[in-house]
Amino acid sequence: MNSFSAVEIIVAKRDGNALSKEQIAWMIDQYTKGTIADEQMSALAMAILLNGMSRQETSDLTQAMVASGEKLNFASLGRPTSDKHSTGGVGDKITLILTPLIACFGIAVPQLSGRGLGHTGGTLDKLESISGWNAHLSNSQMLQQLKSVGAVISAAGSGLTPADSKLYSLRDVTGTVESIPLIASSIMSKKIAEGTKSLVLDVKTGTGAFMKSVERSRELAQTLVAIGTDAGVATRALITDMNTPLGRQIGNALEVQEAIEVLSGGGPNDVIEITIALANEMLAAAGLPVQDVADALSNGRALAKFEQLIQAQGGDLAKPLPSANESQTIYASSSGVLTELDALSVGIASWRLGAGRERKEDQVDHAAGITLHAQVGEQVTKGQALMTLHASSEDKFARAIEALDGSFKLSASAQTFERQVVLEKVQ
Ligand code: URA
Repeated sequence: MNSFSAVEIIVAKRDGNALSKEQIAWMIDQYTKGTIADEQMSALAMAILLNGMSRQETSDLTQAMVASGEKLNFASLGRPTSDKHSTGGVGDKITLILTPLIACFGIAVPQLSGRGLGHTGGTLDKLESISGWNAHLSNSQMLQQLKSVGAVISAAGSGLTPADSKLYSLRDVTGTVESIPLIASSIMSKKIAEGTKSLVLDVKTGTGAFMKSVERSRELAQTLVAIGTDAGVATRALITDMNTPLGRQIGNALEVQEAIEVLSGGGPNDVIEITIALANEMLAAAGLPVQDVADALSNGRALAKFEQLIQAQGGDLAKPLPSANESQTIYASSSGVLTELDALSVGIASWRLGAGRERKEDQVDHAAGITLHAQVGEQVTKGQALMTLHASSEDKFARAIEALDGSFKLSASAQTFERQVVLEKVQ
């Protein structure tokens, strides 16, 4: 590998110049090895945040991060592989439903997932509500389960994209998280290293999402799709609404319960709509013809696949999910249509109830969270229950209720309406 000067590379990006593939590869390699110091990488991250990166630079950065660690390969399965990634939201339990659903159509789904941080939940925390469920599979265990079940949900091993792990922690403390090239290369490096051949991205937009505006979400979606395409992964994205929570349950065990409801043919309309839209995109990205995915939800096939997946990873669905000791219900003070229910406020309230963590090493309370008795667009009458908060102790309620102050609006003059959840498609 060529040798460069870290200062020259930082100065080039500071002055708005494009970096070469070799410069990017060298910088990431040396940073992973510890030769380039955190302060130099921080300066480069800030220069990237301020001056951006071209499509070529962003793809080169992604490939450099992929090259920093091991790459999984599922070619021996002899089956199409597909994966889904969500940029994160409140009440987003779609991975739990989509993974077994897609596996019903003969596609192998190697789903590497993460944990929640802040107001957004993580798939692994949710599934760990199930007694005995194991989130840590080795690469060979994953391959084995993909052969036997067709789907696996696991924590990414530490061998995958070590450069991203280091850079992500650094960005977190240097005000450089919000750069689209840095976010996109971080997400896509993990997905490319995971070895999937096709990928569907659920890019959330709104108050409860990482990207608050549709314009920024569109730019992120386009960048993610471009990187995937450049890397030979058939990639598509949907931009979906995250101004209000998804579904009626927010919190780990509560979301598992709602996912099982949808896998059993029921559940809230918004969750079903997003699941079906993403499932159709995953099948198309994997090269399969259109299929009746709704039927696989209502006829029990997807639920049976979910049960197999959980069992294969040591989970016992016969044991009851954890439930909270304490609950408190909030009632409507007037009648009207619920026109707003802010996702961020509900996410923060659920987090304060114990469903989320503040620092990486914190434990989550699997039973904590919020049940919504009304969703946006529904008619509510005065005195009707709006939501119930669940926590391990009563002292958690005051701060959660504080977060919910002003989070919902009831309009006496509005008509009931069906919320639009899927906003745009990028491919
Ligand atoms: N998720 C990631 O994996 N990386 C980011 O930078 C942001 C969200």
